[in-house]
Amino acid sequence: MEFKNKVVLVTGAGSGIGRVAAHSFAKEGAKVIVADINEQGGQETVEQIRASGGTSSFIKTNVAKFDEVETMINTIIDQFGRIDIALNNAGIGHLPNKTADTSLETWDKVIAVNASSVFYCMKLEIQQMLKQGSGVILNTSSIAGLRGLPNHMPYVASKHAVIGMSKTAAMEYAKKNIRINAICPVFTVTPLFNPEMIDQVSAGLSEKLKAGIPMKRFSDPIEVANTMLWLCSDKASFVTGVAMPVDGGITA
Ligand SMILES: NC(=O)c1ccc[n+]([C@@H]2O[C@H](COP(=O)([O-])OP(=O)(O)OC[C@H]3O[C@@H](n4cnc5c(N)ncnc54)[C@H](O)[C@@H]3O)[C@@H](O)[C@H]2O)c1
Repeated sequence: MEFKNKVVLVTGAGSGIGRVAAHSFAKEGAKVIVADINEQGGQETVEQIRASGGTSSFIKTNVAKFDEVETMINTIIDQFGRIDIALNNAGIGHLPNKTADTSLETWDKVIAVNASSVFYCMKLEIQQMLKQGSGVILNTSSIAGLRGLPNHMPYVASKHAVIGMSKTAAMEYAKKNIRINAICPVFTVTPLFNPEMIDQVSAGLSEKLKAGIPMKRFSDPIEVANTMLWLCSDKASFVTGVAMPVDGGITA
């Protein structure tokens, strides 16, 4: 029960990596707040956690809207009095396209959901953590935050931004007992990255992507969640401002 009674917020916990992380924190005794734009997915995660004996509640939130993030944070503080750990994890992808052919609409949407949301969440989470005198923030970036990925300009820009924001805030609040890190998964099998869907876009692409990973396989969401738990635990008490790859060796 490493996180017993800790108040843990996970955005994008209605699916994929966020859902698995929410389950893992709940198993370790945390009170998990699931935030997602998808009400059905978010409620499902909460019901699953409660069915396993855990404590969880859902707040429908579009993290790309500052006023909704403000309502989310205020609701958590009203209900739980604090936020010990915040995983700013919600994110979206987009169809591949060269930079010159990328629409402004795709750019604006991906930057809003993947990058501006992390600023909105961190701004308000840090305000609360300063009042508490402690806190841990973990932002979900990607290996696309560490290197280029052709045909994914908005996604790559958004995930580089997440790392820059995490490092900057980590330095600003290191003396205030607030640790802030980023996690950088490689291809992880979730509804966002579905190998069958990838092969429909381009036949055989998923095998090519796998071949580029030294471990020759995709990641399972639990492998990302396990690293998230470690980074948010007291075992990582001197770790702040890092962009931690969980990538089967691809960035080595
Ligand atoms: N799956 C991968 O291969 C992979 C690799 C690297 C990084 N990531 C990152 O991991 C994070 C989680 O991705 P995933 O693979 O679990 O995807 P997913 O699609 O399974 O889950 C993402 C969740 O975010 C929610 N969401 C989307 N837009 C939102 C918004 N505006 N407000 C609130 N919630 C919103 C979705 O409803 C969904 O429940 C994302 O930030 C993604 O970029 C994923």
